Amino acid sequence: MGRCCFYTVGTLSLLLLVTSVTLLVARVFQKAVEQTIQKNIVLKNGTETFDYWETPPLPVYTQFYFFNVTNPEEILKGETPHVTEVGPYTYRSLDWWGTESCNMINGTDGDSFHPLITKDEILYVFPSDFCRSVYITFSGFENIQGLPALKYKLPAEILANTSENAGFCLPEGNCLGSGVLNVSICKNGAPIILSAPHFYQADEKFLSAIAGMHPNKDHHETFVDINPLTGIILRAAKRFQINVYVRKLDEFVETGNIQTLVFPVMYLNESVLIDKETADRLKAALNTTVIVTNIPYIIMALGVFFGLIFIGLVCRGQGSMDEGTPDERAPLIRT
Ligand SMILES: *[C@@H]1O[C@H](CO)[C@@H](O)[C@H](O)[C@H]1NC(C)=O
Ligand SMILES: *[C@@H]1O[C@H](CO)[C@@H](O)[C@H](O)[C@H]1NC(C)=O
Ligand SMILES: *[C@@H]1O[C@H](CO)[C@@H](O)[C@H](O)[C@H]1NC(C)=O
Ligand SMILES: *[C@@H]1O[C@H](CO)[C@@H](O)[C@H](O)[C@H]1NC(C)=O
Ligand SMILES: *[C@@H]1O[C@H](CO)[C@@H](O)[C@H](O)[C@H]1NC(C)=O
Ligand SMILES: *[C@@H]1O[C@H](CO)[C@@H](O)[C@H](O)[C@H]1NC(C)=O
Repeated sequence: MGRCCFYTVGTLSLLLLVTSVTLLVARVFQKAVEQTIQKNIVLKNGTETFDYWETPPLPVYTQFYFFNVTNPEEILKGETPHVTEVGPYTYRSLDWWGTESCNMINGTDGDSFHPLITKDEILYVFPSDFCRSVYITFSGFENIQGLPALKYKLPAEILANTSENAGFCLPEGNCLGSGVLNVSICKNGAPIILSAPHFYQADEKFLSAIAGMHPNKDHHETFVDINPLTGIILRAAKRFQINVYVRKLDEFVETGNIQTLVFPVMYLNESVLIDKETADRLKAALNTTVIVTNIPYIIMALGVFFGLIFIGLVCRGQGSMDEGTPDERAPLIRT
């Protein structure tokens, strides 16, 4: 084994190790990937994101469920209304992103969520039919069509009877309770009260006032599963119920002895799920970023490999080195 080769291996190993550590510390590839994502996510005419925003690739389904009153005469006599859910009446709409999501996100004007989402973040959303900004919080990890996702949910606190929400009780101080929102002010004065379907997470009094309410977490909560690296929505369901505020009017005989209550009319299930083809394309793109961000580790592995060869050479060379020619044993620098 030539001395030249011996030193080359050692130097190479050291160089590779130093390079890999430098790249890792400076997060060069990580930053490059993040910058590329951020650049591509900007909503500019001509980018893929823009095309998606103009004509969303994911089908959005809207399901309507109505509450059919089964005892109308008895209600007028003051009895508990009895309702049964009818539906779903399903529609596929294609303009969901385009029309709504512009208003949807508080702070950004993107079509989905911003990229590089971490689970500690609180994401702000502005659903226009809600007439108020809301936020969603992290609730768990998911895997949608083989893609990693963070599940975000609308927390119960959003509609809870708390001091933070006191400003939403109109007129001032007139809180209806947890789980409902009086949106009359932005619906031309119509007595409309929003809630989760079947009064999910609402006060017991709303549930018990109507026979036929069966709140269920899986069917009635609102959630969104977001791919954290790209901010793309992989799956989501936005569900809310429209109720009318029914009040007994003494001066009107027609209203009979009807109770004053929050009466459910219908609820919506607006859902979206990434299709397999789009998921596969996204997966391929994400795999590339995984490879790119792992380049420093590959360099490091090579450095370790050459380092081992070097050590091997040192150990094997120990004996032979001592028996080298007098010339070889002589100091390198002679004066
Ligand atoms: C995007 O750009 C194309 C060509 O440059 C143009 O025809 C189109 O109208 C633009 N779209 C919007 C929404 O500005
Ligand atoms: C609603 O209820 C009425 C009376 O109970 C019944 O006749 C009718 O078929 C129901 N409608 C639907 C769509 O289920
Ligand atoms: C989102 O908007 C609400 C008002 O609608 C505001 O109170 C809140 O601070 C905003 N949050 C962010 C992060 O912009
Ligand atoms: C809302 O909370 C306040 C203070 O905790 C309480 O006094 C009030 O009765 C609650 N209102 C309803 C409708 O539950
Ligand atoms: C809902 O809000 C409107 C206007 O903001 C108010 O006039 C009405 O009394 C409220 N309804 C209830 C049931 O509190
Ligand atoms: C809402 O839509 C999703 C997706 O289509 C579906 O899985 C879910 O069962 C629906 N929920 C209800 C309550 O219909």
